[in-house]
Amino acid sequence: RTRVLTGITTSGTPHLGNYVGAIRPAVAASRGEGVESFYFLADYHALIKVQEPARVQRSTLEIAATWLACGLDPETVWFYRQSDVPEVQELTWLLTCVAGKGLLNRAHAYKAAVDRNREAGEDDDAGITAGLFMYPVLMAADILIFNADKVPVGRDQIQHIEMARDFGQRFNHLYGDPAGKQYFSLPEAVIEENVATLPGLDGRKMSKSYDNTIPLFVPREQLRKLIFSIVTDSSAPGEPKQTEGSALFQLYQAFASREETGAMRRAFADGIGWGDAKQALFERVDVEVAPLREKYEALIADPAKIELILREGAARLRETYAAPLLKQLREAVGLRDLS
Ligand code: TYM
Repeated sequence: RTRVLTGITTSGTPHLGNYVGAIRPAVAASRGEGVESFYFLADYHALIKVQEPARVQRSTLEIAATWLACGLDPETVWFYRQSDVPEVQELTWLLTCVAGKGLLNRAHAYKAAVDRNREAGEDDDAGITAGLFMYPVLMAADILIFNADKVPVGRDQIQHIEMARDFGQRFNHLYGDPAGKQYFSLPEAVIEENVATLPGLDGRKMSKSYDNTIPLFVPREQLRKLIFSIVTDSSAPGEPKQTEGSALFQLYQAFASREETGAMRRAFADGIGWGDAKQALFERVDVEVAPLREKYEALIADPAKIELILREGAARLRETYAAPLLKQLREAVGLRDLS
């Protein structure tokens, strides 16, 4: 069976970008024939950015409830919290010892942090933790520990998947049998073409770090307000509008069918007013989100149930895959067998 795996960092409230970039395609994929799915809450990753325990916990609950509300079935999908599978940490170290430092120097998130320091006239690494630097290795461990074949993500994560392939390949090369046994299969990123990067309110990539997100499950009125606050240019009603580079159009496209998108493209050319376009977007998003929102509210009201689902998922997963793999890997590299 093809293994599909993806995670979301528990550093905040899930937004429309997470939904269209990861959750919606992942839940759809999990319903396909011949698929084994692994979806998780990346809470070790959250510590890189968030040093507020209450926020990590709240976000974990919100993201778990979101996956479940969006149709993930914990009976047929492996659904777990990353830190409930401590074998991930042990694999992270084994991969750290084969990962090229030069490759990590080129990771986008790290390079962006260095660039910001340079612009501010600081030392390159001022205020940057080793955790941020090592982020791609931890993510590679997430993926390789379950031998994922496909990883549905937004475009911002492609480089990380390529690095996971690189580390997995090096490990195979060093410790595998060239003719037979390979420890890791090499993952591929799966990108939804028409929503590869969903823009936020200000037109930049929708991201917790830019504070420009539309949370997935805000009350209806607030959703409307947020959508009406999307930045547009100053062209008046009646003037033709550009779809290219329009955040409003890209958001619409992420939620609408091909036909609806075509009709909106013509409406832009015909000079639809921004207010009408925003109203159309609001209605389109709300139609899809409203039924999920109701389920979400019921789920978030019962944290104990969510906790149970997560713990059971991780316990079975450790026993089935993580512990046996680590046993093999320890032996492969020359460490003692703990069992
Ligand atoms: P994170 O938490 O930043 O985002 C979770 C998922 O949402 C996607 N995404 C977007 N997609 C389209 N448009 C946007 N504006 C947008 N913003 C976010 C992301 O691409 C991602 O798919 N490192 C990962 C979490 C992670 C992971 C993994 C993912 C940890 N281990 C292993 C896959 C496999 C992250 O921080 O995603």
